[in-house]
Amino acid sequence: MKKIILLGYMGCGKSTIAQNLSKITNIPFLDLDNCIEKKTNLSIKEIFEKHGEIYFRKLEHEMFLELIQSSENSIIGLGGGTPCYANNHLLLQRDDLTSIYLKASIDTLYNRLVHNKSKRPLIANMEEEEMKEFIAKHLFDRSFYYNHAQHKVVVDNRTVDETVQDILEILA
Ligand code: S3P
Repeated sequence: MKKIILLGYMGCGKSTIAQNLSKITNIPFLDLDNCIEKKTNLSIKEIFEKHGEIYFRKLEHEMFLELIQSSENSIIGLGGGTPCYANNHLLLQRDDLTSIYLKASIDTLYNRLVHNKSKRPLIANMEEEEMKEFIAKHLFDRSFYYNHAQHKVVVDNRTVDETVQDILEILA
């Protein structure tokens, strides 16, 4: 069976959806950010603070390669920026993976992120207005990379269960 890669902007629901998909399919879920945190013994926030974003992107690329090259069957949840650096977007098209972009609108993302920004260094210190503009521009810039996924699932106005069903149909 192919490894399943879930990707999309911060707040699109990658981890929650992956956990639910994992329960239903019995395929283990690996969260890329958690794997980096375990390996470095630092939180993502601490990595950004101590070593900067460029260093984080290097770790992220290395961990992405490690996870897709392992022989374990898995559902892999990427970080929101993973496809957008180090040509990682090209890896989304590998034949031995099923990559799925969880697509959310600016409003959905803003409403979810406005109360969940503290662990996310890119937006942690932003005021609400600034954050909305940032998400709009950032999502626009990143869409090019996200659109390299083999499949796309729109998550706006959908429950987690409905989205998991959409994914199961892709996998069937
Ligand atoms: C990032 C998203 C985060 C995490 C890091 C950078 C990004 O993951 O990898 O803070 O560049 O969008 P989530 O999408 O799980 O929040």
